[in-house]
Amino acid sequence: MSSVTVRVPAKVNVQLSVGPLREDGYHDLVNVFHAVSIFDEVMAKESESITVAVHGKWSDQVPVDDSNLAIRAARALAKHAGRTYGADLIIQKAIPVAGGMAGGSADAAGALVACNELWGLGLPFEDLMEIAGDLGSDVPFSLLGGTAVGTGRGEQLSELPTGGTFHWVFALANGGLSTATVYAECDRLREAAAADVPWPQLDDTLMEALGTGDAYSLGAHLSNDLQAAALNLRPELAPTLDAGRQHGALGAIVSGSGPTCAFLAIDATHARDLAQSLTATGAAHTTVAAHGPVHGATLV
Ligand code: C5P
Repeated sequence: MSSVTVRVPAKVNVQLSVGPLREDGYHDLVNVFHAVSIFDEVMAKESESITVAVHGKWSDQVPVDDSNLAIRAARALAKHAGRTYGADLIIQKAIPVAGGMAGGSADAAGALVACNELWGLGLPFEDLMEIAGDLGSDVPFSLLGGTAVGTGRGEQLSELPTGGTFHWVFALANGGLSTATVYAECDRLREAAAADVPWPQLDDTLMEALGTGDAYSLGAHLSNDLQAAALNLRPELAPTLDAGRQHGALGAIVSGSGPTCAFLAIDATHARDLAQSLTATGAAHTTVAAHGPVHGATLV
């Protein structure tokens, strides 16, 4: 086999509850991930060494040095297999970079699946999930896809059955936000408010809405503890969220650590109309309509 291609989805968090800061610098979460139909493609080609090239939207914002998460994934996989392997990784990006949609995690998950195949390692999914968890809190979910609750740092996953397809609109922002910066801002706001930080709890009504496919109830129960921090860092996102609500979104929320904003629509037609209204009124410069849940990293 001389090349392998893997398609990996973006995610939105329909519930992101952030617990107190841990000693290791992370936060315990209740993180309800939902994979949506915006995909990066990761191709792995036979090579002597491990390299990465990035094409498509925002490719200039992705580092191609050793900090690239796909390179780190391929190296971690080779190390796990106990041998030196090479692969040229060619990434076609559609997921916003540093947008709160797990774009970097998607590329890492894609590299794991692609290199496992290219190198003929045949490692089971559980091994890939373990390596994924060491690479980043969101990488296991990018492998799994669908809808799932993440606890711990977000890497311990339980799959959630959903009762249908949900339709979304994403408003993309100019420039990304660093996840670590947004978590730090969340800590700062909590410290300033001297607020007690409760242990995160799964929202039962949200679970029921996902299970029955009730978009109205899901929209009403979307929640994100990082939203206040993201809005503090990017105040211009607040009017974008308001505009979505005014145009009939069932729910409007910052996606993960932002700055992408996510809007839940009634159906596919409403999503198209909402996307168009947001750009036509200048509330967003670029919008993408998508649906979820979709599969995690998949060979194509
Ligand atoms: O795990 P990952 O490398 O994606 O996390 C990026 C940053 O986000 C961490 O360095 C940390 O600052 C923050 N984070 C956190 N708690 C989590 C997940 C991420 O504080 N559960």
